[in-house]
Amino acid sequence: MKDLLSLQDLSTAEVLELLDLAAKLKQDNKEGKQHHLLKGKTIGLIFAKSSTRTRVSFEVGMYQLGGHALFLSCNDIQLGRGECIHDTAKTLSRFIDGIMIRTFDQKEVEQLAEYADIPVINGLTDLLHPCQVLADLLTIQEHKGKLKGLKMCYLGDGNNMANSLMQGAAKVGMDIAIATPVGYECDKEIVAAAMQTAKENGCSIDLTTDPTAAIQGADVVVTDTWVSMGQEEEKAKRIADFKGYEVNAQLMAQAKADAIFLHCLPAYRGYEVAEEVIDGPQSVIFDEAENRLHAQKAVMVKLMQD
Ligand code: CP
Ligand code: NVA
Repeated sequence: MKDLLSLQDLSTAEVLELLDLAAKLKQDNKEGKQHHLLKGKTIGLIFAKSSTRTRVSFEVGMYQLGGHALFLSCNDIQLGRGECIHDTAKTLSRFIDGIMIRTFDQKEVEQLAEYADIPVINGLTDLLHPCQVLADLLTIQEHKGKLKGLKMCYLGDGNNMANSLMQGAAKVGMDIAIATPVGYECDKEIVAAAMQTAKENGCSIDLTTDPTAAIQGADVVVTDTWVSMGQEEEKAKRIADFKGYEVNAQLMAQAKADAIFLHCLPAYRGYEVAEEVIDGPQSVIFDEAENRLHAQKAVMVKLMQD
């Protein structure tokens, strides 16, 4: 494991190992035990899109591990002015020990990883959001005590979160039902690979356009914004197209009585989720946000420790 570009690249054992390490680092952190496992190391955080959680959790995580994080906005570095990925990767490899990148095209992340001599972590692309889903799996494990055999339901846009959740669920043996409107389905290649993984791990992936069918008996209900970063101009059309997909109390009542609700945030109340759900007793969104820190510390340790 040199990089973390997609959960599909990890074995089930690697996913579970990362979650175990994250849980241990979290526990120790709560008890005030510091582990300077990355003392003297520097990670560069390249952002071509906005961020609250990803930026703060990587910066704080690296600090807690005894290392240093450099925030590299594409508005400031030469990559944003057209310097090529090859030269950026080779140059950064001479200064720092790891790169996290948040950008648009998954291919840019793959190229960066190909040319860099140091680990590259995908901090979100239009296609995938693997760090978020590791945090989500950690959160589910904490609240449900297990992953395998549970049912997850994702309602909404077949976007980066839906794709990565599908990969993650298949890796850990969790059933997943995804309901998306026509025209907003998950990526076909990702579906095909995840279907294969699900088959190997004895779990199912159900794809539908019916939110009520998808949510039946779910242990975990997840949604995400209908308008991802870069899609702002499509906002009005998307709001119309996603009618009926809001996770509200009525829909939530079709899940198991003890189901938990997750959202990677930022959330838009009154659109993809009703206030009564996201601010209600089943919502674990801030545990989920906190777990970005612990999950990513595990990822950085695995990839960057000598
Ligand atoms: N969930 C998530 O990635 O949040 P940010 O966009 O704030 O980093
Ligand atoms: N799907 C959202 C996730 C934000 C963390 C986006 O890409 O904007």
